[in-house]
Amino acid sequence: MPQSPTLPGPHILYGGDYNPEQWSEDLWLKDMQLMQQAGVNLVSIGIFGWSKLEPQEGVFDFQWLDLLLDLLHQHGIQANLGTATASPPAWMAHTYPETLPVNAQGTVYGFGSRQQYSPASPIYREKAARLVRQLAERYGKHPAVVMWHINNEYGCHIQECFSESTAQAFRGWLRHRYGDLQTLNQVWGTAFWSQTYHQWEHIQPPRMMPAFPNPTQVLDWRRFSSDMIQECMQMEVDLLREITPHLPVNTNFLGISRAVNQRALAATEDVVSIDIYPDPAQQNAPQDTALQADWARSLRDGQGWILMEQAPSQVQWRAINQPKRPGQMRLLSYSMIARGAQGVMFFQWRQSKAGAEKYHSGMVPHTGVSSRIWQEIQSLGQELKALPTLKPQMKAKVAIIIDWDSWQALEQDSHTHNHLKLLDQVQCYHQALWKENILTDLVTSYHDLSPYQLVLTPSLPILSETAAANLRQYVKEGGHLVMGYFSGITDQNDHIHAATRHGSYNPLMCDVLGIRIREFSGHDPEEALLLDNGLHASHWSEDVELQGATPLAHFTHELYPHSPAITRHNHGLGQAYHLATQLKADSMHQFLKTVLKTAQVKAPLQVPEGIEVVRWEDGTLFLLNHHPTPQTVTLPEPHTDLLGGPSHQSELFLAARGVAILQPQPVTVAP
Ligand code: GAL
Repeated sequence: MPQSPTLPGPHILYGGDYNPEQWSEDLWLKDMQLMQQAGVNLVSIGIFGWSKLEPQEGVFDFQWLDLLLDLLHQHGIQANLGTATASPPAWMAHTYPETLPVNAQGTVYGFGSRQQYSPASPIYREKAARLVRQLAERYGKHPAVVMWHINNEYGCHIQECFSESTAQAFRGWLRHRYGDLQTLNQVWGTAFWSQTYHQWEHIQPPRMMPAFPNPTQVLDWRRFSSDMIQECMQMEVDLLREITPHLPVNTNFLGISRAVNQRALAATEDVVSIDIYPDPAQQNAPQDTALQADWARSLRDGQGWILMEQAPSQVQWRAINQPKRPGQMRLLSYSMIARGAQGVMFFQWRQSKAGAEKYHSGMVPHTGVSSRIWQEIQSLGQELKALPTLKPQMKAKVAIIIDWDSWQALEQDSHTHNHLKLLDQVQCYHQALWKENILTDLVTSYHDLSPYQLVLTPSLPILSETAAANLRQYVKEGGHLVMGYFSGITDQNDHIHAATRHGSYNPLMCDVLGIRIREFSGHDPEEALLLDNGLHASHWSEDVELQGATPLAHFTHELYPHSPAITRHNHGLGQAYHLATQLKADSMHQFLKTVLKTAQVKAPLQVPEGIEVVRWEDGTLFLLNHHPTPQTVTLPEPHTDLLGGPSHQSELFLAARGVAILQPQPVTVAP
């Protein structure tokens, strides 16, 4: 297999989305000079440039982009060239209204915002392909161009489209998947509510319906919709690899999200890039950032990744938007570098003066270079430039499982609890681990789990035989598994597992867990569920019968009184825990601390709460102080701080929101 082209390097990539088409050309030169001052080495350009590149159908204007790329090159700045397919121009909506997306109610989305295309539309795809070909042929060898930025945040606004041509594509996709209607009827369980299909043409997307839609139809629809987006991406990837095989390709993901199957999309590109926008007003901003960074690193199983967008300060799209605190942008940037980011990029270079994002911060704010934002941007850029080449390599000992299909099934309606959100549960596990400074990967239930000492599954309703066999094997060979409530209920078609009739839910795993689950119940999220060991829970309870497992806590609620809420079972060389409820954050922390001990997973360093620590395999140690006050950390051995702090013997002083990147000091042997 030919090797993927590698990232431009060797330094951390630093820069942002650059949209000079919003400004007159006399400002461009000034921008280049400012970029140099800020240590910018990469900018993403042309992402929303389609209407300027092809102002009329088939009439292209590349002059401005020629000039821009030449200018960038003259100033030693590299380009991550957008394929510009994220927002088709007005002529597309006008001449080909059938390319516009349609929602489940049948309303056609209009022009005047962005991403107004139907991913399955053959016309959109044809016009996008023509543009990408032109760009690749013209700029593939331009010395400034070092990478392709495909589209922009697939699925951010449009994840599915209910147009007629999409309905046709859906039928084609189903024919390919099932071959005949009999199989489709069986898989969709259409015997229920008289839904049986006798002709392919009768199958529709799950548009507005009088009552709950068929869950497997919805699941297939979500799979299909993600596949349509992936096909768009693949079309661009194929063209770019054909014409410019020397350039890496990537698309920027919308943070951690179920909008599209990001793991599947990531498999088609050379490098993962992602956009991370924690809310600076929220206390969990550092942990949210860490979770998304862990996700980015995990999407291509540990490969370095690029933070393609973060806000220099405030965004404009939450209901209320606060700026990042002094030092917070730098701190969060380093926390992502610690977790494998090889690029720290922003949205966007110059804050817009018009349009829907004019109140979104920019690296060059409205108020120019006298601003705090600019000072922080400039000083981080220069600091990163001075760093030696970093080679992130880290091995997490803990993994959380996220299966996209199961996520889709969990968040459908007509369930026992319609407010269960996978990310809330992932967040709860991850936060407890983050507090303990335990690095975590996010994997699927099909992954090789042997590198991990502990594996956690939030609710995993869909569990296939293959996935269950994998989890079983993992425990048998000595792994520690924590399986969350509402797991292992259905097969890959979202049908209740046939073996449930022998007396237990989660039948493929109940012997590993040493329990029988006879029944379950949803609870109002506000209702407190107290366990008899003092832990607090909510949302869910299960009627559990012990079949060899040891109970660690019981419900005190009248519904399933004395039923085990937390159990542990030895299986083979390992242990399987079961959580029959949603532990509250503090209780989850308390519980996981004991599990980490049993699984012998240790933090790299003992530090005060609120100090984030990440250790790489080569001994590099990141210390990140998330407090607005200085902190002191005790170190076991002398280190050198790559950020220029003094060499430390045993006490390290971390400024408020301060960072240290420590490397062990070489031992000097006396002559
Ligand atoms: C991202 C998007 C950017 C910009 C940014 C604002 O979702 O990719 O184009 O809109 O949000 O935060």
